[in-house]
Amino acid sequence: MKKIIIKGGNKLRGTVNISGFKNAALPIMVATILTKDKCIIENLPMIRDVDCLKEILIKIGAKVKLIEKGAMEIDTTNIEKCKLTDDINRKMRASYYLLGAGLGRFKESEVLYPGGCDIGVRPIDQHIKGFEALGATVEIDHGIIKCKADKLRGNRIYLDVVSVGATINIMMAATLAEGITIIENAAREPHIVDVANFINACGGKIIGAGTDIIKIVGVERLKGCNYSVIPDQIEAGSYMIMGVATEGDIIVNNVIPKHLEPVTAKLREMGVEVTEYGESIRVTVNKKLRSVDIKTLPYPGFPTDMQQLMSALLSKTKGTSVVTETIFDGRFKFVDELKRMGANILVDGRIAVIKGVENLMGTRVEAKDLRGGAALIVAALSANGVTEINKAYHIERGYEDIIDKLLNLGADIKEG
Ligand code: UD1
Repeated sequence: MKKIIIKGGNKLRGTVNISGFKNAALPIMVATILTKDKCIIENLPMIRDVDCLKEILIKIGAKVKLIEKGAMEIDTTNIEKCKLTDDINRKMRASYYLLGAGLGRFKESEVLYPGGCDIGVRPIDQHIKGFEALGATVEIDHGIIKCKADKLRGNRIYLDVVSVGATINIMMAATLAEGITIIENAAREPHIVDVANFINACGGKIIGAGTDIIKIVGVERLKGCNYSVIPDQIEAGSYMIMGVATEGDIIVNNVIPKHLEPVTAKLREMGVEVTEYGESIRVTVNKKLRSVDIKTLPYPGFPTDMQQLMSALLSKTKGTSVVTETIFDGRFKFVDELKRMGANILVDGRIAVIKGVENLMGTRVEAKDLRGGAALIVAALSANGVTEINKAYHIERGYEDIIDKLLNLGADIKEG
C-alpha cells in the first residue's frame, strides 16, 4: 500500500471487529520453534509483519501453511538451526525472538541485529544479560548476534529496565533450560501472559506471567498445541480514538476490556462516554472534550504504542496537553507531519506540549512509522478536506484490513 487518501469530516459509526494482537502473535509464532511438533495458531492478524515472520520461519526450515484466514499450521520439525543473517531481519523487530527460541531448542542461535520501527535507540542488552545468566555466551560479530551454550541452567535474572522483548526472549530460552529461572522486574503486558499461556499449553511451566516476578520451571520437551491469540488492544484503542476524533459513536468488538483500561481511563478523563460490555467497548462523544496530560509507562501504565494516536486526538482538543514519552525517545517524529496539518505542538526531548487547535487541514503527509502513521489517520479523519498519507506501508505492518474496517464505519477513505 503506497498511500491512503482520506476526506475528513465523516463521523464514524457502527461496529468494528478487532483482530488478533500483533505483539502476541509474532512471539507465539516464533515460540513454536520450542517444540518439534506441529502447532496450529489461530486468530492471527493478517498483516505484513505476520507475512514477514512466516517467510522467516520458512527460510530457516519450518513448514507453514495458512489453513484459513487467521489460522496457520506451523511445523518446525525440520529446522536444524536458528540462523538468520540476511536482510529480511531488518524489516521487523520480532525476529529477535529467534535468539531465545533457538537458544532454548538448539542451544545456539544467530540473528542479524533486528530492525522494526525507527522510534529511537532500541538496545537489547537486557536480552543478552538474560541469555548469559542462563549460561550462554553472546557475541556480536559484524552486526550479527551469536548465542551459544553447552547447557542452559536456570538462574535469577533482574531486568534493569522493564522490557517486553527481553522478558519474552528470556522466558523462551528458560523454558527448555535445566532448573528454575526467576525473572525479576519483568514486563507485565497482556502479550507476555499470552506467550506464557501458549508455552504452558505446549507443556511448559511458566508461573506468574502478568506480574513483575515470573518463575519458569525448565522442562525437557514441549509438545504441539492449538492456540488462539488474544485480541489486539492497540488496534482496538486505535479505532476508539479514531471514533472519538470524528465525534462518532462506535463499538469495538472482540476485545478484552481490562487490557484497554489505561486508554479508557484517559478517554473518560477527556469527557468521552465509554461503556464496557463483556467483549466489546462503546465510545460516544456527547460533549466538548477536555485536554489531558499523558505519560507513557510500562503496562498497566499508558502504552507507548497509543501515545502518537492520542497526541493526534489532543491536537484538536481545546486546551493544552502535556505528553511525556518515557519509553522510546524517537516517538515524536510524526509531530512535524501533524504540524503540516495545522497542529500546534512544541516538542522538547521526550515532552510534547500540545495546544489544541479549532481545525486541522488536510494536506500531503508521510507516515514515519507504524503507530505514527495511524496517528495521521486519526488527524485526517477529523481534518477539513483531503489528506494524502504517503509511505502507508508502515501502517499495513500492524493493522489488518484497515481501509475496509474504516469504510464500514463510514469513513471516506481509499488506497492511492
Ligand atoms: C515491544 C513492542 C512495541 C512496544 C514496546 C513497549 C513488539 C514486537 N514490540 O517492543 O510495539 O512499543 O514493546 O510496549 O512486541 N530496553 C533496554 N534494553 C533492552 C531492551 C529494552 O534498554 O535490552 C529499553 C528500550 O530502549 C525501551 C524500553 O526498554 O526504552 C522498553 O523496550 P521493550 O519493552 O523491550 O520494547 P520492545 O520489546 O522492543
